[in-house]
Amino acid sequence: MPDIQILPSILAADFGRLADGCTLAEASGADQIHVDVMDGVFVPNISMGPDVVRMSAKTVGIPQNVHLMVKRPQDHIAAFARAGADTIQIHIESDCNIRETLAKIRQLGKRAAITLNPETPVESIFECLENRWVDEVLVMSVHPGFGGQAYLKYVEAKITAIRRWAEWVDIAVDGGIDGETVVGAAAAGANLFIAGSYLFKQPDMKAAIAALRKTAQENFCSAM
Ligand code: DX5
Ligand code: ZN
Repeated sequence: MPDIQILPSILAADFGRLADGCTLAEASGADQIHVDVMDGVFVPNISMGPDVVRMSAKTVGIPQNVHLMVKRPQDHIAAFARAGADTIQIHIESDCNIRETLAKIRQLGKRAAITLNPETPVESIFECLENRWVDEVLVMSVHPGFGGQAYLKYVEAKITAIRRWAEWVDIAVDGGIDGETVVGAAAAGANLFIAGSYLFKQPDMKAAIAALRKTAQENFCSAM
């Protein structure tokens, strides 16, 4: 079984006390910190940049999982690598040479991940898997740009297809993950669970992370 991991998204943390949000996530048993980068062009919202990754990497010891919702990721990956990103996720819908940009992420010594939006066909990332250009696939279960949206269950068919083609790859799911939606995502074959608003509104994040992890482990690949 691939490692089941829980990744709090600090997009849902209190921006006035972001470092505390990172510390809370780590102390609660998070496996990685998920940092949502939005450029206001690829998505309608603007969020955080390399300095937030630098702060988070300095604050906690767990890896930084950096989600680039930007039009031209190739212009920014070096800055995020320098800032302390461990995994860099680029979108298949972005405006770049996918093969070259994924290769550049690896040349910088980072884990490379390809992300696809809910409406993007799963076949679009075939090449990335077939040629093993990626270490991780991120399946969006909401339309990127904002936290707190409802989970789109129809993306589970894509998760299952990816798990069937590439048993070795880490499959992350991002958007609307909570104690209930994690069941279907895990059953479909996802093993990395990104959760923002659900985890940051918990009175006891540690218990919530432990429960999410347990549910994911119990249901992993059960629908395949
Ligand atoms: C959405 C982001 C997500 C977001 C998830 O554009 O990519 O990572 O923070 O937030 P929740 O868990 O609130 O849907
Ligand atoms: Zn994200």
